[in-house]
Amino acid sequence: MSTPVKVAVTGAAGQIGYSLLFRIASGSLFGPDTPVELRLLEITPALKSLEGVVMELDDCAFPTLAGVQIGDDPATVFDGVNFALLVGARPRGPGMERGDLLEANGGIFAPQGKALNDVAADDIRVVVTGNPANTNALIAQSNAPDIPASRFSALTRLDHNRAISQLAAKTGAAVTDIKKMTIWGNHSATQYPDLFHAEVKGQIAADLINDQDWLENTYIPTVAKRGAAIIDARGASSAASAASATIDHARTWAQGTPDGDWVSMAVKSDGSYGVAEGLISSFPVTVKDGEWQIVQGLELNDFSRAKIDASVAELAEERDAVKGLGLI
Ligand code: NAD
Ligand code: LMR
Repeated sequence: MSTPVKVAVTGAAGQIGYSLLFRIASGSLFGPDTPVELRLLEITPALKSLEGVVMELDDCAFPTLAGVQIGDDPATVFDGVNFALLVGARPRGPGMERGDLLEANGGIFAPQGKALNDVAADDIRVVVTGNPANTNALIAQSNAPDIPASRFSALTRLDHNRAISQLAAKTGAAVTDIKKMTIWGNHSATQYPDLFHAEVKGQIAADLINDQDWLENTYIPTVAKRGAAIIDARGASSAASAASATIDHARTWAQGTPDGDWVSMAVKSDGSYGVAEGLISSFPVTVKDGEWQIVQGLELNDFSRAKIDASVAELAEERDAVKGLGLI
């Protein structure tokens, strides 16, 4: 067995944490031959409940779990961590948009960015799941000037997985037949799942379906508003699927994308596809040797251009709002 990978999870006593920790500890992230050490951050009142979760982790006797530390101080918990999965934040309730959480949750990510900057390992990679995920990632990144900006990302893999699943259901294809799915923009109701580049068994999905009305009025809203539909149905926001997507995202970052495919990740824009430089926006990316690259050269039709522009405009508004709050 190799040296343990140190993985920090914030909000570890929450609903997503309850699914995520057991997946990481059992080897879903780095495989059966790589031990992991969990570093779990919570707010002080949640530490007792987190102790109970740690008792359950102990009781699983996972061969890949090399150790667990818990605490309420980011500077201690993040010391030497290789991956940080920033989940801890308040979820939205019925009738709220994710952007409504900016003020409540934005304040969490500035101190966590600073702590990562000070104590994380040199190869740190950060995944922000807590909402509003893109802008929280921007806050953390802006507060960590010594960490390359490319090490910060936000989760749009859940949207990506939802987009694949809905397309598979429509076409009768298996999820494994679907490649080159892209979510562009914000993890919000303005996100744009793109069927003009996604392929079903090698055929462009939009051509195969050939129904702009379904694409525009059924498919895109179903994917983009899936989070709200789950809150309505479950009375709580998605948890197991969000944990699973967080694992998918981090595993892809560690292990790379397969040839002939890409994934969606929200990463810092370098101006590609006209997305304002510096925003953390979702793009199609490939990953090799732990480094992501935005897929270049995709043609965007007028419909896609307008959808991407609308989502990016929302990201720019969120950035301006957190700038106004002094968080970046
Ligand atoms: P939850 O309320 O069950 O758990 C959140 C946990 O975070 C709580 O235990 C809370 O004590 C903790 N926390 C709060 N402030 C903290 C801080 N400063 N440091 C450490 N921990 C802190 O919520 P949940 O259902 O687990 O969701 C967590 C977040 O993930 C929410 O913001 C939710 O909207 C978001 N989410 C994102 C996606 C996505 O696709 N990006 C999907 C689902 C949920
Ligand atoms: C989701 O997409 O399920 C999460 O972001 C939770 C939410 O508020 O929708």
